[in-house]
Amino acid sequence: MSRTVGVINQKGGVGKTTTTVNLATALAAVGKSVLVLDLDPQGNATTGFGLPKRRGIDNSYGVLLGLIDPRNVVMETYVKGLHLISSTIDLSAAEVELFSQRDRDSKLKRSIAGLEYDYILVDCPPGFGLININALNAANKIIIPLQCEFYALEGLAQLFNTIQSVRNTINKDLIISGILLTMYDRRNSLSSVIANDVRGHFKNLVFNTVIPRNVRISEASSHGKPIILYDVKSAGAIAHIELAREFLARESA
Ligand SMILES: Nc1ncnc2c1ncn2[C@@H]1O[C@H](COP(=O)(O)OP(=O)(O)OP(=O)(O)O)[C@@H](O)[C@H]1O
Ligand SMILES: [Mg+2]
Repeated sequence: MSRTVGVINQKGGVGKTTTTVNLATALAAVGKSVLVLDLDPQGNATTGFGLPKRRGIDNSYGVLLGLIDPRNVVMETYVKGLHLISSTIDLSAAEVELFSQRDRDSKLKRSIAGLEYDYILVDCPPGFGLININALNAANKIIIPLQCEFYALEGLAQLFNTIQSVRNTINKDLIISGILLTMYDRRNSLSSVIANDVRGHFKNLVFNTVIPRNVRISEASSHGKPIILYDVKSAGAIAHIELAREFLARESA
């Protein structure tokens, strides 16, 4: 069975999609079979692979609501071994549609249960709505990207409360794979202050790998390419390859 990894942080713009797209690519590059599930109505992970956003129900909306077999809507990416289920803005309606359903917390878990990939990486939207509750329920583990900026720790406390209540209710086995420091700017002393703070608090839960702020990363996404395919020698690519190595090491530990 697949391992489902949610990439989640309720804060917007902290590097969730960048982490999902590039970790998925780096895992596929070492021979893992990977599915990216774009669970954000913004559809940034879909665009990040240069893929079209499929309308109707042939997308993560249909999968989340259990309207369609996910096997019928996976798309190939140009990365060998890496597939994607796209999202569209229609997914934003799912929050409301789920609300009145009895099994509203477990729809996604049931929908993707039979998929056979080494990893399913779920690109979560910002916020704490039912889409994210479904992701936290379906996930075996989560990665928390954390931008090295002033309010980072405050947001993290809120996220940990949510994780704890998910563990107390619907998914007691939910594991945190790690907190990932993103957009680290070594010319900005605040970055290192925050990084030290986070490591002081969360110790080994923080990945040793740090993703630097690297303009090549945002260029790559605007070209619909993971950084590893866009510029494999860039600091951003090297960091994501290192992240995949550390992630797999944590898997076997
Ligand atoms: N390490 C980095 N260096 C430079 N730019 C980055 C880096 N990581 C992400 N970005 C850019 O920052 C923006 C936000 O990143 P991203 O989309 O991954 O965040 P997100 O958490 O998924 O956002 P949202 O909450 O809106 O889904 C994007 O334009 C992305 O290209
Ligand atoms: Mg995103």
